[in-house]
Amino acid sequence: MALCLAIETSCDDTSVALVSETGEVRRCLSQGQDAAHAPFGGIVPEIACRNHTFHLLPLIEQLLTDAQVTPEQITGLAVTSRPGLIGSLIVGVVTAKTLAMSWQKPWIAVNHLEGHLLAPFLRDSQYQPQFSWDEPYLALAVSGGHSTIYEVEGLHRYRRLGNTLDDAAGEAFDKFGKMIGLGFPGGVQVDRLSDGGDAKKYEFPRGLIHEETLNMSFSGLKSAAHRILSQMSASEIEKERSHLCASFQEAVVDALMAKLDLAAMKTKSRNVVITGGVSANRCLRRKVQEWAQVRRLKVQIPPPRYCTDNAAMVGLAGVLRLVRGESSTWATAPTPSSLPTDFIA
Ligand code: KG4
Ligand code: ZN
Repeated sequence: MALCLAIETSCDDTSVALVSETGEVRRCLSQGQDAAHAPFGGIVPEIACRNHTFHLLPLIEQLLTDAQVTPEQITGLAVTSRPGLIGSLIVGVVTAKTLAMSWQKPWIAVNHLEGHLLAPFLRDSQYQPQFSWDEPYLALAVSGGHSTIYEVEGLHRYRRLGNTLDDAAGEAFDKFGKMIGLGFPGGVQVDRLSDGGDAKKYEFPRGLIHEETLNMSFSGLKSAAHRILSQMSASEIEKERSHLCASFQEAVVDALMAKLDLAAMKTKSRNVVITGGVSANRCLRRKVQEWAQVRRLKVQIPPPRYCTDNAAMVGLAGVLRLVRGESSTWATAPTPSSLPTDFIA
């Protein structure tokens, strides 16, 4: 059974994992950096890559020790090489290449988005997927950097159907969080503060909701939030936080659901996944489940630990390529963007 050691350092989370070719996560360890970036209200690339250099090797040592796995027992290494912050990617790729060279194992450069697309198919003692990555499926991938709808024809056949034209959904959550005085990243706090809030109290736009396109837009939310908040005092914002968060969250979720529904109709997909950091949002998860029941679709939503950035998803993407005989060369370098060959037209 092939076993892959995976490294994810494309943004600010340092994560390592051991994943088998069935998608079983033997172990996954992550170290976040939220506290380091919070004072700046967003991710500072130089701080992110420096912290990866501190965290990565100790995490790998701990991973192997905890799992009682030796380098001889692994089939190869997988590492996110694109897209992402170039300094952060370099730390992961250089580390993977160095270990591959000294352990004499193959290594594979993985697209982070392929990782998110395969995250719903990871398995562990608490989570089992309902259908397999071999079946065609529709995917809504929503994170801090991406909001994209994919039609997946099967393994390695990923087609982009629609994208955000401006902000990513997670970015919109984070910007709104900042505006109402929450720390960074704001998404998860907006989710929590929405509990008990009246989602109809404030009116936020649902970008492109009535258009035929599968593209999305979240920048109008920012202007609307600015307009609403500029008419309120700081104490009023504080008092109204829960209603503001619930109203904002529902606008984002409605916009995503409209596009997911349109995509399902257009592609006649029977299997749907949601993935990426924003798919940890409880309102989105609930609405997707309800919608799938009405439409009689099979839906796969990974647990929050596999929604946000993690090395397990990179490990699954990597091990499935390694067992098919693929590997990267020493000349392969990280790139800030995806490669044209990563997706089909
Ligand atoms: O996938 P991810 O960990 O990193 C990227 O590839 O971007 O996604 C991070 C994003 C952040 O914008 C964060 O605020 C958002 O996911 N996020 C959430 C929730 N948990 C994370 N947004 C809304 N509700 C949540 N529960
Ligand atoms: Zn991500």
